[in-house]
Order: sequence, then C-alpha cells, then structure tokens
Amino acid sequence: WQLVAPRDPKRPPLVFHYVPVIGCAVSYGMDPLGFLDDCRKRYGPVFTYPLLGRRITCTLGPLGSNFVLNGKLAHVNAEEAYTHLTTPVFGTEVVYDVPNHVLMEQKKFVKFGLTTDNFRRYVGLIRTEVRDYINKHVYADGSKQTGKGVDAFTTSSEITILTASATLQGHEVRAAMDKSFAQLYHDLDGGFTPLNFVFPNLPLPSYRRRDRAQLKMREFYISILQKRRESPEEPPLDMLTALQNQQYKTGEPLTDKQIAHIMIALLMAGQHTSAATGAWAILRLGQFPDLQQRLYDEQVEHFYDQATGEWTDLEYETLQTPLLMAFIKELLRCHPPLHSLMRKIILDCPVPGSVGSPSAEPNQSAAWRKRTEGIEYVVPRGEFVLAAPGYSQVDEGIWGPDAKEFRPERWLDQGQKVPGEEDEGEEDYGWGKISKGGKSAYLPFGAGRHRCIGEQFANVQLGTIIATLVRENQWTLDQPFPGNDYTTMIVMPQAPRNVSFTRRAAQPKA
Ligand code: HEM
Repeated sequence: WQLVAPRDPKRPPLVFHYVPVIGCAVSYGMDPLGFLDDCRKRYGPVFTYPLLGRRITCTLGPLGSNFVLNGKLAHVNAEEAYTHLTTPVFGTEVVYDVPNHVLMEQKKFVKFGLTTDNFRRYVGLIRTEVRDYINKHVYADGSKQTGKGVDAFTTSSEITILTASATLQGHEVRAAMDKSFAQLYHDLDGGFTPLNFVFPNLPLPSYRRRDRAQLKMREFYISILQKRRESPEEPPLDMLTALQNQQYKTGEPLTDKQIAHIMIALLMAGQHTSAATGAWAILRLGQFPDLQQRLYDEQVEHFYDQATGEWTDLEYETLQTPLLMAFIKELLRCHPPLHSLMRKIILDCPVPGSVGSPSAEPNQSAAWRKRTEGIEYVVPRGEFVLAAPGYSQVDEGIWGPDAKEFRPERWLDQGQKVPGEEDEGEEDYGWGKISKGGKSAYLPFGAGRHRCIGEQFANVQLGTIIATLVRENQWTLDQPFPGNDYTTMIVMPQAPRNVSFTRRAAQPKA
C-alpha cells in the first residue's frame, strides 16, 4: 500500500494510488479521459501514474503531445512500447520489430501503393461493396424495404473489411474473404486485445489461435505473390504489386515474408480504426436525423442532375464535400479511435518547462502557475510517456464551452481549421514530407515519424461509405446514443448500438 507518494522535485508529481502494481489501472481503464482530467486538476498537465507495473508520465495539451510525438529518437521509442503486442500479430521483420530507420523505409514503400490513381479506382469499388452489403444483410437480399435492429459496429466492421480487401488488399484477398480468410482474420484479431498488451504470451487457446492464424495468413499472402509472379498476365496496380517492386537503400529487396507481414499490419492498423469511426458515423447520424438530411441534401446538390434525373458517380476528386468533410473531422475529434499514444523512454529525458507553461494551461489559477512555471522534470529511462490527443480534442480551454458536444458545423464556422494551430512547417522522415503538426489540439492521426500513413485511404473509405449510405438509406437509433467501451484496444460504442434502416426512394424530389 502506498499512501504517501515519494516526492523527488526532479520527477513529475506521482498520482496518488492505493494498490501497488495495479496502480491506477481501474480508474484509467474505466474512463481514461476522465482520469486524465482529474489528474490535471490535481497535479497540472505533467504527472506520472503507475499502471500494471509500468510508470507512465502523461504530458497533456498540444505542447505535451508535441513533446512525445516529435520527441528525439535518442529519448523516445515506439518500438519498445508496442512490439510485444504487434509483432505476434503482424509478424517479424516489419513495423516495430525493426529499427526505426527500417520502418521509415517500409512506410515509404507503402506510400507507393497509396497513389491518387489507386484512390480513384477505389471509390467505385467501395461503393459497390457498400450497396451489396446493405442490400444483402439489411434488406434481406432486396426482399425488404426496412431493416430493424442492425448493430452499427458489426455492420461497420464488415463493410470496412470488405471494402479494404476489395481495394487495398487485392482482389485475391477479397475473394477469400467469403471463405477462409475471414476466420483467419478473426483468430488473429483475437490476439490484439488489452490482455495481449499486458501479457504478450500466455498458455491460452486464444494465443495459440493467434499464432496459427498469423502463420497461415502469411502463407496466404506469399502464395498470392507466387501466383502473380507465375501468371503471364500483367499484375494489378495495387499495394501488393507496389511492394513487390521495392528495395531498401542497402539494395536488398523486400522479401515475400516481409511483404506478407506489411499487408497484415495494414489490414490490422486500418480495420479497427476505420470500423470504429464508421460505427460512430452511423450512430451519430441515427441520433441527428437533421444532420443526416443535410448530408443527403449536400449529395443532391453536388451529385444529382435535376435535368436528367441521374446521380453522378462519386469520384475521388469531388468526394470531399464541405459538410461531409466536417462530419468526418468531428467524428475523429469526438471519437478518436486512439485517444492516447505511448512511447518508451530509452535515455533519461528532460520534460521541457514549456510543456507545463501557463500558455499550455491557460485556465489554471495564478497559484498553480507560480508553482509550475519554469519547472523542468526528468523522466528516467525504462519508464513511458503518454500523449493524449483525445484529451486535447475535447478541451474546453481550446475548443470553447461546447467542446464536448458533437457539432460538425464548428468546422464550417472555423474554415475547417483547428483553433490556435500554427503552421509548424514540414519534416521529411524518409517516407514523404508531412506537416510536423505536433503542437496541434487535433491529432487523430498522430504526428511526427510515426504519424498514420493511412489517413488519405481512411478518408476515401469513410467518405465513400458514408456518402453511399446517406444517398440510399435513412436510419434512426433504436436506443439512446451509446457510451464508450474502453475495454478494447480501440474506443468502441457500447452495446446495444442498434439502428433501423429504411430504403430511400430511388430519385430525390425535384
Ligand atoms: C499510425 C490513427 C487508419 C496504417 C497511426 C497513428 C494514429 C493512427 C493515431 C499513430 C500511432 C502512434 O503514433 O503511436 C488512425 C485512424 C485511422 C487510421 C484514426 C482511421 C480512421 C489507418 C489505415 C491504415 C493505417 C487505413 C492502413 C492503410 C497506419 C500505419 C501507422 C499508423 C502503418 C504507422 C505506425 C508507425 O509509424 O509507428 N494511425 N489510423 N492507419 N497507421 Fe493509422
């Protein structure tokens, strides 16, 4: 029992906790953002809390996010924070199982498969998948005009994996999705849970299923690569082909095994994040029928030709209409799939005073400011640091009194900009120039060298899914708007999370 926290002035304040080892796991696990808010009120924006045997220093606010996400490679390390969870699932020799410079090269290779030409082709493929899925599963193969009690998360997950496999993963994966691949995915996914994060290896059936599925999935991708090589036909222009043509700076090619593992990493990285966002989209539109109607009206305005009575096809270039864009941004502001991002400290790391400065904490009292101004802490090697963009994204000090309300219009009012964000210039991490952007209050895709590589794909996928759903259907919530389920790796809506669908008339009214 630890009743009095030892206080070393060089260390950030230690959050009071009763039970050693478990530490703050219960309060953090039940409501992480509420826990962080409570700690901020007591200790300021920089504090350390124990969690299941680890010590984690959280640096709240945009400057705190920047400190973690744009931290020096010599100090902060993502591989050591995540590899025990990701390597058994993705496989070896990729992502966090390799030194950072190799990951940066692998991200560059992936970028070759994320081209505008590919995105253009994807829009139509995604649209077809969504329509077919809804027709089959919601309207009982077209025999009904309504579908009741539809679970928003199951629907979104299935649509996400079908659309990702029809596009990014390649037609062979899409074809197998109706057969063995879905089960492999399910078993592998069973290894991507908070339990696996805390205990990477336990003698449990789910761990054995995870390992078997990883091997089989790797073999499956390798067999596709081999068949494509043997085929006289031109290979399709997709991610697999893009990866097959890449080589490291050393002149070594990517091996088939590495390609297979990168494909698994992309599948897993994109699936939960986009599926959760899609589920929140369905639920928010069920909660706000007027917003649903306005998104529909926007589709009509941009894509329906009243003279010919025809819909124009959705296209990559025109997909991002203002309200749809604002809606997706607001989804990721209020429901970021990853609200916090962690790094391991590999060299004693000073936390600059500016992270806890008055400008980072505009709403704190004068006494608090006096106490924290100019302080510089040290986080020792072996501990962890945590950025919590999900916290800053709903901080009233930054977004105003309605920060916690779901209001896509704020993006239209703000000219699609983030309050207080400054242009921090660009940085090249070896996989393309990206905006440094760490000091932003809106980072659903992270920042710095580990920033998400799938943002554009996710926007194409989510934008097309939402536009297609809104054009052809109307739906309402079956129960009050659900709360957050924090027991999974990604924040999901709690069950029940059902909606009831009605098919829209084929033609909008003139
Ligand atoms: C990294 C969010 C979709 C692939 C990240 C990170 C975030 C994020 C926050 C940074 C992790 C960190 O710094 O620790 C999201 C969200 C998505 C999404 C909100 C959808 C709404 C995707 C998709 C793909 C993808 C579709 C693949 C096509 C990756 C990869 C990384 C990454 C490869 C890099 C990891 C690294 O460099 O350490 N994502 N992601 N993501 N994401 Fe995404």
